[in-house]
Amino acid sequence: MQNYFLPPRIEFGDGAIQNLGEHIKSFGCKRPLLVSDAGVMNAGILAKAIEALHASGLPSVTYLDIEPNPTDLSINDGVAAYKSEACDIVIAVGGGSVMDAAKAIRLLTTHAPPLEPYYADVGGIERIRGDMPPLICVPTTAGTGSEVSQGAIITDTSLNTTDRWRKRAIVTPFNMSNIALLDPGITLGMPPALTAATGMDAITHGIEAYVATKYHPIAEGVALQALRMLSANIQKVYHDGGDVTARGEMLLGSCMAAFSFQKGLGAVHSLAHQLSTDAPIPHGVANAILLPPVMEFNFSHATEKYAEIARVLGIDTSSMDNDEAAHAAIDKIRAFNRELNMPKGLGDAGLDRAKIPKLGADAMLDHCHKFNPRVCTEADMAALFEAAF
Ligand SMILES: [Fe+2]
Repeated sequence: MQNYFLPPRIEFGDGAIQNLGEHIKSFGCKRPLLVSDAGVMNAGILAKAIEALHASGLPSVTYLDIEPNPTDLSINDGVAAYKSEACDIVIAVGGGSVMDAAKAIRLLTTHAPPLEPYYADVGGIERIRGDMPPLICVPTTAGTGSEVSQGAIITDTSLNTTDRWRKRAIVTPFNMSNIALLDPGITLGMPPALTAATGMDAITHGIEAYVATKYHPIAEGVALQALRMLSANIQKVYHDGGDVTARGEMLLGSCMAAFSFQKGLGAVHSLAHQLSTDAPIPHGVANAILLPPVMEFNFSHATEKYAEIARVLGIDTSSMDNDEAAHAAIDKIRAFNRELNMPKGLGDAGLDRAKIPKLGADAMLDHCHKFNPRVCTEADMAALFEAAF
């Protein structure tokens, strides 16, 4: 039996954030908890959200204590803020960390703490109900697509050691936001390096989802269209951050790519997840570096699909057979990495080579590679880290 979950309402357009207050009222809510972080505040984006609330006569209760890899501790504090202020809806304004934190905060407003029983690795999906307050997500980067994804990644400090698996996922269809407000205008100020990293994260989502092994034709179609939009615009936004049309294509493309990865992700994400706390290498940068070697590794198990990807990446494959086209797709990813000034390898990005065996073992514990087109062993994971080094 297959279960497909379609995205919630998506409002897309320059200036969409101005409608935030009216969307809150449409749920009959009066006291939003605005979850964000210092970076979003300093970029002046939080002020736009607050302005929109005030214009609708709503109060602005903010919780900004979200770190780049949000921990269970900041979730607990966010829940306390929600309850002490008697809030009735959660609004996330930020990147993936903020949106993931908002999902976990919202969960614990109606589910007994701590987070422990709700993590995917202990069967949490069975314990999560739909009776949660509404969530509106306003993504400020074009990458994670967390506004429509079913996962929330939390760093579990209760494990209390860096020698153990610490990043854990809460996965449920109820994690999708009730409304995703996609406003390209608020992404115009993203610096080029962040634009490149988040954009390559989105491209990785599309590619891994398209070749992932779950049967989900809806997601496959969306992944291809997302890749068309992302690959046609990533260079434009890197070189001209003020191009609002291209920013919009990236924002909507990243949302679509994230929707598509309910079909599954792959080995790139299992490997990259190990690098965000220990190395640390930003998630999108890790994906960009790891994507070509993982595509080489998967090659014989996904040749036809990589050939199709070559076409949506804009390569003229009319004189190529599938093998040649699939290789051209991998070359195109390498060309993007060069043009976007990505580090040449994981070593160049700051990884200590001695950590590879341990990171390879940890990558096996990550759920993403279960849908990779080629089965991965611990030795494969270590070899892929080496190939990307
Ligand atoms: Fe990702």
